[in-house]
Amino acid sequence: MPFSPDPSRRSLISLVLGAASAPALVACGRLGKPTPCFSLGVASGCPRPDSLVLWTRLSPEARPGPSEPVRWELAEDEAFRRIVRRGTVTAEADWGHSVHLQPLGLSPSRWYWYRFFAMGQVSATGRTRTAPAPGSLEPVTFAIGSCQRWDHGHYAAWRHLADESPDLVLFLGDYIYEYPSPPGAVRRHEGLVGTHTLTQYRARYAQYKSDPDLQRIHASAPWLVTWDDHEVQNDYAADHSPVLNRRFLRRRLQAYRAWWEHMPLPPSTRPVGSDLQVFDRFDWGALARFHVLDTRQYRDPQACALPGLGGGNTVDGADCPALAEAHRSLLGTAQEQWLADGLGQGSARWDFIAQQALMAPFTWRADVARHWTDGWSGYPAARQRLLDTLAAKRVANPVVLGGDAHANYVCDLHQRADDPGTPVIASEFCGTSISSRGRSQARLDEALPWNPHVRYGRTDERGYVAFRLQAERLEARLRVVSDAADPSATIRTAARFEVAAGRPGAVRA
Ligand SMILES: [Fe+2]
Repeated sequence: MPFSPDPSRRSLISLVLGAASAPALVACGRLGKPTPCFSLGVASGCPRPDSLVLWTRLSPEARPGPSEPVRWELAEDEAFRRIVRRGTVTAEADWGHSVHLQPLGLSPSRWYWYRFFAMGQVSATGRTRTAPAPGSLEPVTFAIGSCQRWDHGHYAAWRHLADESPDLVLFLGDYIYEYPSPPGAVRRHEGLVGTHTLTQYRARYAQYKSDPDLQRIHASAPWLVTWDDHEVQNDYAADHSPVLNRRFLRRRLQAYRAWWEHMPLPPSTRPVGSDLQVFDRFDWGALARFHVLDTRQYRDPQACALPGLGGGNTVDGADCPALAEAHRSLLGTAQEQWLADGLGQGSARWDFIAQQALMAPFTWRADVARHWTDGWSGYPAARQRLLDTLAAKRVANPVVLGGDAHANYVCDLHQRADDPGTPVIASEFCGTSISSRGRSQARLDEALPWNPHVRYGRTDERGYVAFRLQAERLEARLRVVSDAADPSATIRTAARFEVAAGRPGAVRA
């Protein structure tokens, strides 16, 4: 529901609240116990030149009613002296008491502050911004993060990113993990059976969103979000569960709904039935276009799964002819076409393909091509179609952003993906996990010489990749925490790379 101004309400609220003073905090629990209403924090996302999305969810512990009014304010200053939009929306129990707002008619390239009021309480103040006006070439700072498994570590990485005050955060999947926690976890998932129902998924998001460092990064910049598999179930493919459960679509529906409830997405994207369109594109002036993809909802099932199962597998190319079938798609036909149409179109100097997985081929054996089938290497024909599109449309500066691998990979993408003799056509930054553990670095070190297009590979780093983009250059810093198990971990830059406009391929700086 887009914002509709209500001037009479505006003056009334100003009178009640005063110009900038925060209202007195009172308990909002209905049982007389002081319970914070906004203990899940606030968030923003989907920045456009004239709009953005604001999000919060009333805490279940506060026992909000079936339809709880939530007032909100958007201001040009942190003290809320210059309020530019305000209104009231209803947080409905049917949608987990989540609030999704999309104020329109805002100014381009401007920072804003926002807050919510409900049940006598006020939320934390969030900071967000709009995208620049079309044609603008002002630089942008942004970061990619993914894979924040709660029971594998803390979110010090998010705190350090918030300290950097980026213009934009891209989240590339695995916001929650669906499992129960094994013994010896750094911190435990609540519940003993994992997430299967809407109630369980909602509770899992509420637990993740209780983390103060995650709340801090959400409150400091707008996000663009997509999902991977763990928001539903490990290695699922469209309506196929990895254990071939015939009732999977019912589980997926509940998981999709809970994901939407907890992400800063426009009200208009509220899921209908079992589908939810996640893919979208966002322009940052004339500098960048971000194509945010969904590699889960429309994909063909993974080829050559283990007997009696679905999901990913590590296979030799020669043993799995299905791998190369031309019709197999990771994005689905409609999204592939949508992406092809939007690449290199318009005025953007740089095209960022923001998605879940490692796009570059990666083989774990010296003698044969041995690939993991859940990522792009499991869909080589679809990957080649995308690379062919980049070449045919002469897309000037394509950069692929990814996650999922729990490792930092910086790669050259060649025009023929498996032929390093063909020109480099795009640069790839597959960022490591925020907290989820990676595989053995020794095993990766063994395999790196067989993958010369991989310029950097570290499985033992947790953190994010911070970018600064100008018209002529992209700079990347691989930011790594000292210990993901330590909530007060320090951060360092493990490596720096640069991509010069017109010269695909990242160079160590
Ligand atoms: Fe992950």
